[in-house]
Amino acid sequence: MATTTCRSPASTSRGVLRTDVEGRLRFRTILPVAYPVPTDGPVGQMLVASGRHPWRPAHVHFRIQAPGYKTLITHVFRAGDPYLDSDVVFGVRASLVADYVPHASGAGPHGREIAGRYHTLHFDFVLARSDAAPASSDPAGGSAGATTGGAPSAPRPVRA
Ligand SMILES: [Fe+2]
Repeated sequence: MATTTCRSPASTSRGVLRTDVEGRLRFRTILPVAYPVPTDGPVGQMLVASGRHPWRPAHVHFRIQAPGYKTLITHVFRAGDPYLDSDVVFGVRASLVADYVPHASGAGPHGREIAGRYHTLHFDFVLARSDAAPASSDPAGGSAGATTGGAPSAPRPVRA
């Protein structure tokens, strides 16, 4: 499993990670929770007018790129979140919902001791070759829906 280095200040909650030669990586982060989008402008007025809430279900964002493959921008949602069926930005797809498995304190997946409860997420991303024919369009739209759909030739798995 790849040992990765985060090249971003902690305050941004973002990092650049590299996989091993088999496309695997492992990293440690905080457990995502649901959050509301800003409601102090036109979006908030639209939500009030349409009787909708501002919440996004818990998720982690990914932007995955590799030479010869289309860049994939997506997120992985946390199964069981109460907002999965009503995401304010309509980004949820069944293929993007995964179990964030809870564990008691003890030896973590990296072999080091973890004090306190923690969760693990295993997810396989599949990238489409950049020369592959475009996948059929997603009737629900949105960039987040184009993650594992289609039938890319010679897919390259990326595990997080
Ligand atoms: Fe987000």
